[in-house]
Amino acid sequence: MPCQTNSELNELILQAKRETEGGRVADYIPALAKANPADFSVAIIHPDGLCISAGDIDKKFTLQSISKVLTLALALCDNGEKYVFSKVGYEPTGDPFNSIIKLETNNPSKPLNPMINAGALAVTHLIKGDSVPDRIEHILKFVRKLAGNDKITYSKQVAESELATSNLNRALCYFMKQHGVINEEVEELMDLYTKQCAIEMDCLDLARIGVVFSLDGKDPQSGEQLLPAEVARLCKTFMVTCGMYNASGEFAIRVGIPAKSGVSGAIMGSVPNQFGIGIYGPALNDIGNSSTGIRLLEILSEKYSLSMF
Ligand code: DON
Repeated sequence: MPCQTNSELNELILQAKRETEGGRVADYIPALAKANPADFSVAIIHPDGLCISAGDIDKKFTLQSISKVLTLALALCDNGEKYVFSKVGYEPTGDPFNSIIKLETNNPSKPLNPMINAGALAVTHLIKGDSVPDRIEHILKFVRKLAGNDKITYSKQVAESELATSNLNRALCYFMKQHGVINEEVEELMDLYTKQCAIEMDCLDLARIGVVFSLDGKDPQSGEQLLPAEVARLCKTFMVTCGMYNASGEFAIRVGIPAKSGVSGAIMGSVPNQFGIGIYGPALNDIGNSSTGIRLLEILSEKYSLSMF
């Protein structure tokens, strides 16, 4: 079913744009600095396949931290909950996503949760395969299945740009290697992680992944269980408690749906049993979330009573 442009959604984007002040594109990954801060697109996919959209939905973006939900789901499918959570915790943190501070102060030294960089690196370490090309293919296969789009791949340019500049993440890896959380070569893990963050799609793909999580792991078209319901539940819970970095508490109050953001300006939302939403707006607020994207979700949540709470 083709996605229909929706004039009401378009109006709400204009309202969200009016009500947010500018924002800045991420530039600590040099390739992301090329994004146009004025870009904005959104797609909503319902369980029956009905899709509505607004903005330039052909624009592609990289997943960045949204990939953390997907690798967590895959690592859980591959290794089971017990093993995954022997490497990473369940608890939110009030610190920025790339902070090292809790790794040092926590005893034993394990990352607090899989949505911060340290935790995501520990999870990516668990992705199975004999080599980095094998392992990224394993991740891509899973993401393609969830998105129902076998053309999805990663941007080499964005992956290389991050790999060349990602010394904070390297520091997190070395720290975790010293403490036995990971035991592979740091450069190998960094190579895989930066490729995973550079997986590229549009907001339709993202909304489609969102609706799979909304439906507890079911394919909206075929009804096939694409991932176990328990894995979907776990991922959605982390999206609520830790999905919007150190703004997750405020987001839970103002919007109240499972969602995950990335520094590319993308946000994936999953309104339980109702719809999946994919947003791209690269102008970020101070915390690193799409400023217009967050405002749009607040408006939608209020207008349609979307909050789970
Ligand atoms: O590791 C990084 O810094 C980026 N590849 C992703 C950061 C991001 O989107 C925010 N993280 N929670």
